[in-house]
Amino acid sequence: MKVFSGSSNKPLAQKVAKSLNTSLSPLEIFIFPDGERRVRVIDRVVGQDTVIIQSTSSMPDAYYMELFFIVDALKRSGAKSVVAVVPYLGYQRQDHVFRDGEAVSLEVIIETLESVGMNKLITFDLHSIKIPELFSIPIVHLSALPIFAEKIKEISGRFPRLGDTILVSPDMGGIRRIKILSEMLSNMPFISIVKDRDLITGNIESNRIDTDSLQWKKTAKRAIIVDDMISTGRTIDAAVDLLIKYGIEESFVFATHPVFSNDAKNILQNSKVSKVFVTDAIEVSKKKKFAKLEVLSIAGEIAKNI
Ligand code: R5P
Repeated sequence: MKVFSGSSNKPLAQKVAKSLNTSLSPLEIFIFPDGERRVRVIDRVVGQDTVIIQSTSSMPDAYYMELFFIVDALKRSGAKSVVAVVPYLGYQRQDHVFRDGEAVSLEVIIETLESVGMNKLITFDLHSIKIPELFSIPIVHLSALPIFAEKIKEISGRFPRLGDTILVSPDMGGIRRIKILSEMLSNMPFISIVKDRDLITGNIESNRIDTDSLQWKKTAKRAIIVDDMISTGRTIDAAVDLLIKYGIEESFVFATHPVFSNDAKNILQNSKVSKVFVTDAIEVSKKKKFAKLEVLSIAGEIAKNI
């Protein structure tokens, strides 16, 4: 098997290759002065199973084009199979028409991925559990939740009274995720916040605790907020502020995908959250790192599932 990396997340690809007791196979990726990309497979791949690892955040368009070209190049060079590991699947939030006249961007991405000849997709913590149904090729949908559960158990050792802790979904869309995590943590109580966004600007318009969150414990003092991704950081910031009004004294955040757009770094560092745990599904560049951040690796999970 040969493992290749696009240019979006080489550190993760290197870790995956290492877990598979191999090293990355070389790829030539050239960027023309006008921004177009050319890719070339250097090693012989005839009849071989191949894996390409590429996340599609921060420069989604460029990284998707690169991925399409790499899959095409591997197929044209005779690869028997191409498994694409796309830990963060860009455009996944545009999975339906929110307002008349919009494109369903995710469907366009899926059609293109399939048409270039990818045989299987491995991805992490998709925004919606319905997304795998949109694919006609096999898709392996992995989750960082087991990694988060282990970390929560580890840091819980430092909590004086674990019973004071509650899991929180910052929006109703994350309720399934939080239920699964609760089961992994001996049924830790959980609640959900109801978040409303302006469909045009994306601004959070209102935020309140879901009244149906029957397990809401007004005595809870510590919150573990879990989300699939952090983009601008406004969801987390608003959630922490709301929880403080309900008596929460300390909050931790666990999110799979550190998209970290705009001013996320400062919003999160200056928010009242104690610590932010994310994964390396997306590479966090040095300039986006901040003191409260800790990155957990999903490389082992990927390697186990290739
Ligand atoms: C939205 O439904 C997602 O689950 C995240 O909560 C959201 O994408 C985070 O975005 P932001 O960090 O910009 O508030």
